[in-house]
Amino acid sequence: MARLSNEEINAIAKKTSIVDIIGSYLSLEKKGKNYFGICPFHDDHTPSMSVNEEKGIYTCFVCHKTGNVFNFVQEYENISFLEAVKEVANKTGIELNIEFQTTSKYDKYYNALDLASKFYQNHLKSKEGKKARAYLEERGLSEVIIEEFEIGYAPSEFDTITKLLLNKSFDEELLINAGISGRGNSLYDLFRNRITFPIHNAQGKSVGFSARIFDNSNDAKYINTKETPVFKKGEILFNYHRAQNEAKRKKVLIIVEGQMDAIRVYASGIKNVVATMGTALTNDHVKLLKRLNVKVVLCMDNDKAGEQATIQNGELLSKNEIDLGILRIEDAKDPDEYILKHKKEAFLDAVANAITFFDFKMNYLKKDKNLEKVDDVSLYINQVIKELNKTNDDVLINLTINKLSEEYGVSKNVLYDKVIKVESTPKISITKFQKKKQNKDEMCCALMLYYMMNDTKYIEFYEQEISFVPMERYEKIANELLAFFLKYNYINIADFITYEIESDHYEDVLDIIDRNANIELSDAEFVGLIERMKNLNAEKKIEELKQQLKLASDINEKSKIIDEIANMKKRMCKE
Ligand code: GTP
Ligand code: MN
Repeated sequence: MARLSNEEINAIAKKTSIVDIIGSYLSLEKKGKNYFGICPFHDDHTPSMSVNEEKGIYTCFVCHKTGNVFNFVQEYENISFLEAVKEVANKTGIELNIEFQTTSKYDKYYNALDLASKFYQNHLKSKEGKKARAYLEERGLSEVIIEEFEIGYAPSEFDTITKLLLNKSFDEELLINAGISGRGNSLYDLFRNRITFPIHNAQGKSVGFSARIFDNSNDAKYINTKETPVFKKGEILFNYHRAQNEAKRKKVLIIVEGQMDAIRVYASGIKNVVATMGTALTNDHVKLLKRLNVKVVLCMDNDKAGEQATIQNGELLSKNEIDLGILRIEDAKDPDEYILKHKKEAFLDAVANAITFFDFKMNYLKKDKNLEKVDDVSLYINQVIKELNKTNDDVLINLTINKLSEEYGVSKNVLYDKVIKVESTPKISITKFQKKKQNKDEMCCALMLYYMMNDTKYIEFYEQEISFVPMERYEKIANELLAFFLKYNYINIADFITYEIESDHYEDVLDIIDRNANIELSDAEFVGLIERMKNLNAEKKIEELKQQLKLASDINEKSKIIDEIANMKKRMCKE
């Protein structure tokens, strides 16, 4: 199957005006070098999106969406990158004279899973599906919701779906790898006599199933697809593809634990909801969430496990600076039951009244303590102070100390002392300083890479002078820039974005462009950046030498290392 090469995609970009294409979706107005328009990716009221014809990119300075012309169409129309290329070519009037079909090496998986899903859906309507239908009805799921969520019924026979797919010329290997069939004496269906819920990835492709029993058998309540090349629990949020646009509109995404909870919340008309696949949130989930740029409300089940999950997930989300609210439902075991009992409006109110993660932890720390007892109060206060030391928010620190002081009659000075004492121990103050410096160093690395994306002369200068970046993930991007230059002998941002689509550093590349998009380039500044990189590397080396010094036992060796450090420092000053 033909797949477009980067060269072919870049040729389309070259013949295309990004202003014309984006201008066909929203009105753009020229101001200075750039065009501006209302950003379609967040709730924008003043034009926040700028489009740069010369560079072939757009950026939004509010929601930070950025990319080339294909990314815009992809994002706007919610289609794959290659479909967006096709769309742009179409709009520009370019004939793609290869038989164009967007393909992925996983298409066979998607197709097989899709066929299975369609079969299960159909089978739910058959005579054999009657009991399953009755169960769904009893749970109050309407025909419309069953249709929308593509809920189905897997027959109880040994190998119905396996045979069907083999007949459609999918091979055995694929059926096993996609998690549809298992191998015994012969191939058999993994899901039998269960209600099936197809799971989709962010692009809406079928990647697996969750399948529930509906009688009183002792089997596991749910069987989910095992990890496959397209189904990775740590990367999938149930209902994400349906929820994303509504989440952007409402600026909130609700996360629940079970897919039945997500379906119930959605069915009540609250469509900005996703469910985890029975696992803790991962860094890959965080990426999906960051992409939406909305507040996240965590609404885990009303039990001990849900509480633990709230802490674990909450720490991950707040560490990643996601705007976070916590909703602990009461008077029902999960959101599903809550909505059945109290209806949509009550749930919406609860979402609107979600508390901060910090407040949640304060409440949590109070649990199982008798705050009439001095010991418990002391323990509680120390635990809160420990949480306070994780934040840089002075206002929060101040408010909390006032509250603690009022509630427990401890003097504010004592409390401040405790916060400050921890803060001013050398270890912490150094890390704070280092963190600030690191942020600045990181900005410089990003800026240097941005220069290199704009003009080959910067790539050449970088290669001659240093050819390293003291931060690993940026070093990899620099190497990819060099590789691009070596291969094509030119550089421009829009084409580099296309080149990076499948790279692990794609998000970083977009981030670098977003952070620096509208700056004026100056050779002098670039030379300064290169000098800074040299110094950074020297600092890194000095740190390494200091470590060696600590470990060295021989006096000669020690003195040699000390000399080396002194030399490096001298050299840094000269430069
Ligand atoms: P209902 O009982 O249908 O309302 O399910 P629920 O949505 O309340 O799910 P629950 O809170 O019991 O579990 C949360 C998620 O964990 C489910 O959506 C499943 O993905 C997963 N899960 C639950 N039970 C099992 C099980 O027995 N095996 C496996 N593999 N996963 C399960
Ligand atoms: Mn439930």
